[in-house]
Amino acid sequence: MAGKFLTHCHGSIGGCFLNEAYRIGTRITSLCFLTEQNIHWPRNYSSTSGKVKTGILMMNMGGPSSLSEVNDFLTRLFTDKDIMTLPMQNKLGPIIAKRRTPSIIKKYDEIGGGSPILKWTDKQGQLMTNLLNKISPETAPHKHYVGFRYAKPLTEDSIAQMERDGVEHAIAFSQYPQYSCSTSGSSFNALYRYYLNKEISMKWSFIDRWPTHPKLIECFADLITKELNSVPKEDRDDVILLFTAHALPMQAVNRGDPYPTEVAATVLGVMQKLNFSHPYRLVWQSKVGPVAWLSPQTDDAIKGYVNKGKKNILLVPISFVNEHIETLHELDIEYGKELAEKIGVKNFRRVAAPNDHPAFIEGLAGIVKSHLNQGVMCNPQLLLRCPLCPKATCHHTKAWLSTLKQKFIK
Ligand code: FES
Repeated sequence: MAGKFLTHCHGSIGGCFLNEAYRIGTRITSLCFLTEQNIHWPRNYSSTSGKVKTGILMMNMGGPSSLSEVNDFLTRLFTDKDIMTLPMQNKLGPIIAKRRTPSIIKKYDEIGGGSPILKWTDKQGQLMTNLLNKISPETAPHKHYVGFRYAKPLTEDSIAQMERDGVEHAIAFSQYPQYSCSTSGSSFNALYRYYLNKEISMKWSFIDRWPTHPKLIECFADLITKELNSVPKEDRDDVILLFTAHALPMQAVNRGDPYPTEVAATVLGVMQKLNFSHPYRLVWQSKVGPVAWLSPQTDDAIKGYVNKGKKNILLVPISFVNEHIETLHELDIEYGKELAEKIGVKNFRRVAAPNDHPAFIEGLAGIVKSHLNQGVMCNPQLLLRCPLCPKATCHHTKAWLSTLKQKFIK
């Protein structure tokens, strides 16, 4: 029983994205996860004083907020058939999760004891809805909800809370700027499954991707400019920009997953905004397992450039909108400290994730406002399957969305 499977474990964001485990019985290689502090953010969904006219579900993979949540997080991840397939998954997934738990706990411990993704998503949601209440009073009050796939608050629990709050118009807002069937797609599939045997009591619409939104571009350009200014003047012109995104197995890419092209679109938009001030490349991080993934890998790219005499490097995590294990551990510790010191990088910098950058918050609010103004249920792209998609789940979700679209009333 040998199985290849994908796992997009986005510690943060996300957490980890796609991890690939190889053969059953061999080691399950690294997942991505982390955080900086042991953060416990009390949820207060029950305090709605008035009716919520617009409820915004901020969807992401999530990450464990404390070390005690790591095993549950991994179990949900490894049993998610949308993100990976393996034989007897309901049994094997928990076994793999249990095996991986100690090493992942160690990583989270090294970044402070848990993932900061809930803290950041909550803050982003609060700031976004405050702004929306000002710029779009006709759709106020707005309220944000966090819906994670593998950590609390779980997508299904948050939808139930939205129903209890009496939300009139619910917007499912993917917090991945670039769409991948493994991440955003998994969240939309979860939404579909929630309503499998349940009546829909809210009007739903969907924001599935926003890779070139001007405020996202502005935010990254500003973060890069600030970080470049921290490099000693004499080295600043020699800096190369390495945009780094979570890799994707070529099996998914070859099915037609839109993620690589959408990530590239973000990179190009940022470089245009910077007037192509420095040379740059898009590289891919967090590959695991022996099968082919998008390349070159971020660490190989760093080594390759140092070998070519390019020793001033600025990493830009272009597919993450908040700090999580892959920025805080993989980029900062594994590459920024361990690798950079070992191979003699002269200046190593890493751009912060958008987090609560003002342009980013304006972007989130602006995306929702335009979506509301347009009065459409979703981007047509959301209804299109990958050309070589073999998954029944994708078929069912797209069919469900198409039905909703027919009933959608502005
Ligand atoms: Fe892309 Fe199914 S894998 S739609």
